[in-house]
Amino acid sequence: MSTSLFSSKITGTGSYFPERIVTNEDLTKTLDTTNDWIVERTGIRQRHVSREGDPSEQNSSLACRAAIRALEMAGKKSTDIDMIVYGSVSPDTPVPTSSCWLQQKLGAPQAWGVDVNAACSSWVYGMSMADQYIKTGQVKTALVVGSEVLSRMNNWEDRSSAILFGDGAGAVVVERTSSESPHRILSSHLGMDGNLWELFQVVAGGSNMEVTPEVYAQRLHKMNMKGREIFKVAVKTLADYAVRALEANQMKLSDVDWVIPHQANLRIIEAVAKRLDLPMEKVLVNVDRYGNTSSASVPTMLDEAVRDGRIRPGHTVLFDVFGAGLTFGSMLIRW
Ligand code: ACO
Repeated sequence: MSTSLFSSKITGTGSYFPERIVTNEDLTKTLDTTNDWIVERTGIRQRHVSREGDPSEQNSSLACRAAIRALEMAGKKSTDIDMIVYGSVSPDTPVPTSSCWLQQKLGAPQAWGVDVNAACSSWVYGMSMADQYIKTGQVKTALVVGSEVLSRMNNWEDRSSAILFGDGAGAVVVERTSSESPHRILSSHLGMDGNLWELFQVVAGGSNMEVTPEVYAQRLHKMNMKGREIFKVAVKTLADYAVRALEANQMKLSDVDWVIPHQANLRIIEAVAKRLDLPMEKVLVNVDRYGNTSSASVPTMLDEAVRDGRIRPGHTVLFDVFGAGLTFGSMLIRW
């Protein structure tokens, strides 16, 4: 039971993907792999890849286009935004922040903003933060973004990871509503286990290690992961965080209309569904067309399902995520 007068609700969604599509077949020209292997092991058929050097396909430019669509749906102007929360592991620059870049591109002079890096969990972390600021009355309208240009961090020579990732952006407008409103964010649960840092890391490029020519040659500035180990932890934690969300709201899975899991790998998603005894008909999937877009995976899937009418007013939707760190989270909303 909330003690606040206010709750938050999503009033607009938007997404945007770079134009260029790279199919599995395209990857076979430079990698020792096949379309069949990639589809069978991951469910991925293609991903979108931003053009390097094109200002319209920078991380914050993708986010800006997604944000404009979300604002249009919400019937809001960029000058209505009080707060920007920007989830990403692949910002335009280390400094200034992505939220600063977006504020400038969008034209939201009165907004303050913050970047969140909880890897693929960033958007759900950001949603939870926006929800807290709205509940305390400090913020009326927030823009929460998940946007990635992972193609720049991808090790295109490593066939076990290069096949997985894609670029794209999702954004939502979150607004203040009454705590009595049926259409609201019902709960969020966040967690992490820093002991599992070795499962997924970018070793160089931070203050621990500069990108020297030697580091560059070893590709230590690129994403590196232990895929099989991540797979196991991901299945367990996604199932655990789904159960946490349901228990906190005294709900059963049959009370949920749609589950949007982080789109890392179709086999992970299917294994979680099996573990929870959740019919796949209730699980929304876009990994086949976009690959793993990290923080953008859940908001882009949400946008697609809202726009095509699968998610309708009154539907209960569960977001369920995990990411490098490792980080975890779930959020239950009533649309
Ligand atoms: N094409 C052909 N063969 C390949 C490829 C490829 N693209 N990649 C790996 N292989 C080979 C391996 O070399 C291995 O060969 P070997 O048996 O001769 O040694 C064989 O396929 C099996 O490799 P595995 O790693 O056991 O394959 P697995 O079924 O586990 O699939 C995958 C690998 C797809 C990476 C899977 O483990 C996975 O998706 N894990 C989760 C990864 C993930 O979600 N990462 C991101 C999470 S964090 C975040 O989202 C930021």
